[in-house]
Amino acid sequence: MTDRRSRELQLFHELARVVAEEPFDVGRILERVCGDLRSEFGFTRALVARLNEGDRTVHAVIQQGFDWPGDQWLLLDRFPFLVQALETGRAAFVRDALTERAMPGKIAAQFEVRSIVAIPLTLPQACFGFLVGDRAGAGFELSAPDLDLLTALGRVAAVFVSKADEYTRLERAVEELRRIDAVKRDFISIASHELRTPIAVVHGITSTLHLRGEHLRPDQLVELRATLYEQSSRLTSLVEQLLDLSRLEVGAVHGEAERFRPRERIDTLLTRLVPDRVDDLRVEVDPSLELETDPAALERVVANLIVNALSYGLPPVCVRACLDGGVRLIVEDCGKGVDPEFVPDLFERFSRGATSRRATTGAGLGLAIARSYAQELGGDLAYEPAAPGARFTLTLPSAALVA
Ligand SMILES: Nc1ncnc2c1ncn2[C@@H]1O[C@H](COP(=O)(O)OP(=O)(O)O)[C@@H](O)[C@H]1O
Ligand SMILES: [Mg+2]
Repeated sequence: MTDRRSRELQLFHELARVVAEEPFDVGRILERVCGDLRSEFGFTRALVARLNEGDRTVHAVIQQGFDWPGDQWLLLDRFPFLVQALETGRAAFVRDALTERAMPGKIAAQFEVRSIVAIPLTLPQACFGFLVGDRAGAGFELSAPDLDLLTALGRVAAVFVSKADEYTRLERAVEELRRIDAVKRDFISIASHELRTPIAVVHGITSTLHLRGEHLRPDQLVELRATLYEQSSRLTSLVEQLLDLSRLEVGAVHGEAERFRPRERIDTLLTRLVPDRVDDLRVEVDPSLELETDPAALERVVANLIVNALSYGLPPVCVRACLDGGVRLIVEDCGKGVDPEFVPDLFERFSRGATSRRATTGAGLGLAIARSYAQELGGDLAYEPAAPGARFTLTLPSAALVA
């Protein structure tokens, strides 16, 4: 066997070994490939640049023997030797970078580039980038068989990179599926608890009324009626939230914009939603203010915020409109505000603060739904602590304001 042949076998053997040891770590594979090339071809430095074929930019991901400044994406077309490697699918060798205009003269001078080679990491249908090597400040020669060998190595390395990339994508997909599965499990456990408990109470009360209603004292009836009202409201609210969720999920929120006066809508909403708490509410929205947006979605946001403010905060609860530089609807209460450690999870589905979990019922869906509706309206929903209490701000696009 010739020397060259055994060198080639040695290189491929090294590459296979790297991949066997680090099958799915692209970074480690490329580091090792760079290192092997440097020692085999006497390169003092080497880099791997990733190619973004969409906007034809390159970006160094591995560098050995020098420091490429920062994390910048460079235009591929400024580096003709890379373009040549991409177009031919073969290693491109430049004997003298300056005279052959292989790259911008400033870069060639700054990094003292003389001879340089670019090996495309190419698969038949895609190019991931380039392996580039040189000897700082020095020229060298590469023969045609050297370039064949480098081209072949680039192709093999590209296969491994693509497999490792695929594995990373799969790993992410599995992670996402696990997350969805956990959410589904939370959903089943919370929804079944939130459904079963009020249904059991309602069923118990209606059987009592059915079987021995005529024997109950008036004060017992009053109590049963109140519990019935409370538990059926709890059920209604959960069913409404689940319907909201599924509508939002399939994008079936129609979002028909219409002109309306939010003040009227909010007043009507509150008397329907919390008839026994109207005295705890202040609506400071100018009755002449007109908006053009989807009123049903806006009501769903406000309803969720008001119910929360009355359940977790303290009265008075205030609904204000703020028109400086946009349209904002603010719901504020005078309670303790949201537990600071819970704030990052506030808008997550099925999440509830520890204090409220102990003291109140709920599925932890209201704010997730409210934020989704706010986003359907082209706006957003945010929380900030107020002094005292909680402040939720619904921001709408300025186009929603009727001038
Ligand atoms: N106004 C508020 N003041 C204090 N905590 C609040 C307020 N609004 C919401 N929270 C906290 O956020 C949690 C999530 O609210 P939400 O998504 O509506 O679900 P749920 O009301 O079913 O618990 C509540 O459990 C509570 O801990
Ligand atoms: Mg709620």
